[in-house]
Amino acid sequence: MKIVHVVGARPNYMKIAPILTAVARAGFATQKLVHTGQHYDPSMSEVFFRDLGMPAPDVHLGVGSGSHAEQTAKVMVGFEKLCQEERPDLVVVAGDVNSTMACAIDCAKLRIPCAHVEAGLRSFDLDMPEEVNRLVTDRLCDLLLTPSADGDENLLKEGTAPERIFRVGNVMIDTLLQHLPKARATGAPARLGLTPGGYAVLTLHRPSNVDDPRVLGGLLGAIAEIQATLPVVFPVHPRTRQRLAALTGGPRLEALPGLKLCEPLGYLEFLGLTSQAKLVLTDSGGLQEETTALGIPCLTLRENTERPVTITEGTNTLVGTSPEKVLAAAREALAGRGKAGRTPALWDGKAAERIAEIFRTWRPLRP
Ligand code: UD1
Repeated sequence: MKIVHVVGARPNYMKIAPILTAVARAGFATQKLVHTGQHYDPSMSEVFFRDLGMPAPDVHLGVGSGSHAEQTAKVMVGFEKLCQEERPDLVVVAGDVNSTMACAIDCAKLRIPCAHVEAGLRSFDLDMPEEVNRLVTDRLCDLLLTPSADGDENLLKEGTAPERIFRVGNVMIDTLLQHLPKARATGAPARLGLTPGGYAVLTLHRPSNVDDPRVLGGLLGAIAEIQATLPVVFPVHPRTRQRLAALTGGPRLEALPGLKLCEPLGYLEFLGLTSQAKLVLTDSGGLQEETTALGIPCLTLRENTERPVTITEGTNTLVGTSPEKVLAAAREALAGRGKAGRTPALWDGKAAERIAEIFRTWRPLRP
């Protein structure tokens, strides 16, 4: 059996890494790793391969940035060619980025079985490009590997045949549990002049938050208040850095002594930081799950989430983007009334093993 795995952007690496390992260990397939090049800065790509101990990609499509159509189309053209040369028995895509959807479309047209890792998540918000990617990918993939029961329910409601759905748990948590000791050993808080348990971590990169200067300015206003009480470390995504440079309203960030801006961090340093934070504020999808697994209170700066189990079971609170609400929720957390939670079922470090076993035994339903 020949399996081709696809990664394209930062959140993909930690989802594919444990599957590569589990399949290699099970020894039933040859594997190739393809990087589409959607993310290309060393801090958004190479550092993760190093930190996660992933093999270098066998093929790099080098698509880079562009409009959604440009980026999707470039991945489709490059990956189609690769599939025609390699003729894989199975392609594995993960998450909800443009590369994920582009490769799923190629596979559907070429009639190559495709597995979607992290299937079934829905924000029900078509303003998010990721929601379009999720819908298209899940409609087309043969194997839908879901992280939690809500994923199964969403797929079934859309009319998906139950035999395409496999609840395997959360592969990102496999990676987290495996790397936590090493991440803590990086001493990331001390390197940034912070005391474990004595700071908050902030990430912002969603277009809905950073592309609108009023929303971005408002959120930074709330952060300006929080940093006066608790230091806030803010690794800045390239998209956000561009928007900050162009922002005219909002507080002057360099005048805020408690706010520490830095470049995007690698996997181990970032996990070292979040795992010892008092509080996380974010619009990331993955971080909502990681904080739930770590038991760290998380305030999600969005109006919706495709990861509701982090709210019903985990440490996540959906706060929205109004500065007053962000501040009120942060004050609660700082007063020690942050949300406690439990880890959802099957977020146990063994999701990749379950996926490898499914790949080993699965046979296409179609002739
Ligand atoms: C993408 C994903 C998003 C994911 C995020 C994680 C889509 C639609 N979005 O958003 O779901 O949460 O990755 O980071 O696939 N840039 C660089 N260097 C890079 C990559 C990007 O400078 O290595 C800059 C470019 O100016 C680019 C912009 O960031 O135009 C946005 O990059 P893009 O890949 O389009 O989307 P992300 O915002 O990163």
